[in-house]
Amino acid sequence: MPVKVLFVCLGNICRSPTAEGLFRAELAKRQLVDKVATDSAGTGAWHVGKAPDRRAIAAAAERGIDISTLRARQVDTADFETFDYIVAMDESNLMDLQAMQPAGFKGTLALFLDYAPQSPEREVPDPYYGGAEGFEHVLNLVEQAAAGLLNDIRQQHLS
Ligand code: 4NP
Repeated sequence: MPVKVLFVCLGNICRSPTAEGLFRAELAKRQLVDKVATDSAGTGAWHVGKAPDRRAIAAAAERGIDISTLRARQVDTADFETFDYIVAMDESNLMDLQAMQPAGFKGTLALFLDYAPQSPEREVPDPYYGGAEGFEHVLNLVEQAAAGLLNDIRQQHLS
């Protein structure tokens, strides 16, 4: 069984699909796609069924990552049974997830940037109402945290 990782933001059209796409690309580089499965979801339901925001698709494409086929869904309590890691983009997402978390959850619920201790930022900021530079910033933060998360998965599950 692969280790399962769920990235969560508010809408599941900007930050968490970006995180999912970039993390999957890192897994592919290291031939770990069979060992680690990824998904993403939103705490909100506004964009369910939609492709990622066109600006998120464009920013990822500039780094050679295609997220255009991903589709938004809302996070569900059953996700706590399925996933080993549930990774929140900001404190608000984390609080919403903590409120949903069943008593028996054995996995790890964390802020994504907990895996980037070198970054002064603790949250991946919502780029939805800003410009293209916000999406670049999301990619830069996600890139730093992806490396740390992958190290944690290797240490806890793959070694
Ligand atoms: P995300 O960005 O949480 O990174 O997907 C957002 C997308 C849409 C909305 C909020 C955040 N919205 O309110 O519609």
